[in-house]
Amino acid sequence: MHHLLSIDDISFSDVENIIDLSFSMLEILQRDIKKVPTLRGRTVFLMFFEPSTRTRVSFELAAKTLSADTINLSDKGSSIEKGESLVDTIKTIKSLGADFIVVRHKGEGFPHLIADIAKIPTINGGDGKNEHPTQALLDLLTMMLKKGLRKLSEIKGATISIVGDIMHSRVARSGIKLFSKVGLNVIVISSHTTLPKDIEKFYGVKIKNFFDDEVFSSDFIMALRLQKERHGNFIIPSDEEYNEFWGLNQRFLDEIKKRKKDSVIIMHPGPMNLGIEIEPAVAYSDSSAIFEQVRNGVAVRMAVFYYLFTKNAKRESL
Ligand code: CP
Repeated sequence: MHHLLSIDDISFSDVENIIDLSFSMLEILQRDIKKVPTLRGRTVFLMFFEPSTRTRVSFELAAKTLSADTINLSDKGSSIEKGESLVDTIKTIKSLGADFIVVRHKGEGFPHLIADIAKIPTINGGDGKNEHPTQALLDLLTMMLKKGLRKLSEIKGATISIVGDIMHSRVARSGIKLFSKVGLNVIVISSHTTLPKDIEKFYGVKIKNFFDDEVFSSDFIMALRLQKERHGNFIIPSDEEYNEFWGLNQRFLDEIKKRKKDSVIIMHPGPMNLGIEIEPAVAYSDSSAIFEQVRNGVAVRMAVFYYLFTKNAKRESL
């Protein structure tokens, strides 16, 4: 069974195929009638046990554009509230005819558990601070589009700096894995208190605690949301201090201008804590690709559905 649970699940050639498919999906999304019959008669269960706007809506739009039926299910309002076990819930949706499951949950590894129980193609829509693989794929597609690249191999050698709360970020973990896989140079900038120990050893990234010339010279700078809901006791002194040292703020913009690095592309996975990790002057500047990231999420998720569908169909016919 093929799933997308982690960036570890996909090879360079899988990424190449998904990105190629995403370009075709972008073309479909520009048509007057945005509908193709690829998944007609199939049902996608969207199981979101944590809040989401971008991921849930774009998976739903992606499934509907491919003509699938979609069912939304969360703990609120389902029989989970009455004490039904997860295993029984999964067996129930399988009996009801699920063809795909997309799942977001605060438990790390939860999507893997669902995939094991359901044996239905399962996509990780974010599990705790572990992974968010489709976010990494849409970030990669956005970077290629911003640079005018069509072939994955052409992005090799570009530099992305990821700044902020690395420790609690599934976006960072999937991003670092994917960007390294396709040959990007990855720099992370973070306070000691929001940096996982041994990150350099495991992921081969360059670590900095503050911005410097190398960061300002990056092709892409991605700010991460400060994930306060995952913080324990002491993480940062105050929002103001965090913004001063690790925020994309007016001072950051001034440094970019001073160094004539205006071509840098600013990214953020959303939702943004405006005034903390990023200020409106940066988020809504001409350098920002933040809302393009959101838009590209639909095409990438269509591509992932299509890719898993064809891979699983091939497997079944063997
Ligand atoms: N980037 C992201 O996962 O956003 P949502 O939480 O709105 O889905």
